[in-house]
Amino acid sequence: MDLQNKTVVLTGATGGIGQAVAQLLEQRGANLVLVARHQQALETLRESLKRPESHAVCAADVTDGEQRENLLHFLRYGLDDHGIDVVINNAGTNQFSLLSQRSPSSVEHEIALNLNAPILLTQGMLSWINRPGIILNIGSTLGAIGYPGYSTYCAAKSGVQRFSEALDRELDGSGIRVLFLAPRTTDTRLNNDAVQEMNRALGNHSDSVDVVAKHVVKVIEDEIASLWIGWPEKLFVRINQLVPNVVSKSIRKQQATIHQFISNRKKHV
Ligand SMILES: NC(=O)c1ccc[n+]([C@@H]2O[C@H](COP(=O)([O-])OP(=O)(O)OC[C@H]3O[C@@H](n4cnc5c(N)ncnc54)[C@H](OP(=O)(O)O)[C@@H]3O)[C@@H](O)[C@H]2O)c1
Repeated sequence: MDLQNKTVVLTGATGGIGQAVAQLLEQRGANLVLVARHQQALETLRESLKRPESHAVCAADVTDGEQRENLLHFLRYGLDDHGIDVVINNAGTNQFSLLSQRSPSSVEHEIALNLNAPILLTQGMLSWINRPGIILNIGSTLGAIGYPGYSTYCAAKSGVQRFSEALDRELDGSGIRVLFLAPRTTDTRLNNDAVQEMNRALGNHSDSVDVVAKHVVKVIEDEIASLWIGWPEKLFVRINQLVPNVVSKSIRKQQATIHQFISNRKKHV
């Protein structure tokens, strides 16, 4: 899809990846609807863009049913007549922690934001999003490779991948594509100090947000059904599908380091 003059909804717009995506989409000529929970941060982002008058903001917690309905109502009736061409379900969170040490509510929240919200936002727009239209769901390498300290996040992102694949097939021929992009570790505030230190200790590469933004635009423009960012992660995803024991063996060697950083983590929820 050519992004020129298209209206693109971007959730998680004020985060590290979201801001970089917003800037690049604007450069491609898109008009944006920026979504996150905090109005002031959204306004600041809109004002920082080159054509602020072309973009709208909507503050909403996408895990809250009523706020999600208000957002959908705004997207359907509160903008100009052009309608919505693209939705990027990018809002997400995770907590690097052992499952046994987490509260049930933090587990529920992680699934609500990473999995339920994209599904329900998509469902709410299916009958009226423009055709051709694109829904792009942002997953994670961790959705394809189960990793200690991230069991709930892995489950949710894995669900988003399968949801995207299934719905894209379900909508075949309808004019709506459901695409999926899985970044690997990226330099944003999502990764707290303990995670960043662990990644350094394990030699895990971290991408800049600009790398992810370029892939977001590529996936939409070329309508790529699913894409994983980065080597060797791409390869590990395939190996994990074919011979998961090989990946388990390799992760077992990292186990002591992972547990050390989980105990050192500074953020508790
Ligand atoms: N960073 C990485 O290493 C990495 C790797 C792979 C995949 N990803 C995925 O990439 C996406 C973006 O991550 P990021 O690193 O940019 O995260 P981030 O910097 O923490 O930004 C998260 C964004 O989501 C918004 N948000 C959080 N809770 C929300 C809610 N309940 N309702 C609406 N908006 C909400 C935040 O704004 P408010 O707080 O104002 O709501 C913020 O705009 C996520 O889906 C993440 O899982 C990230």
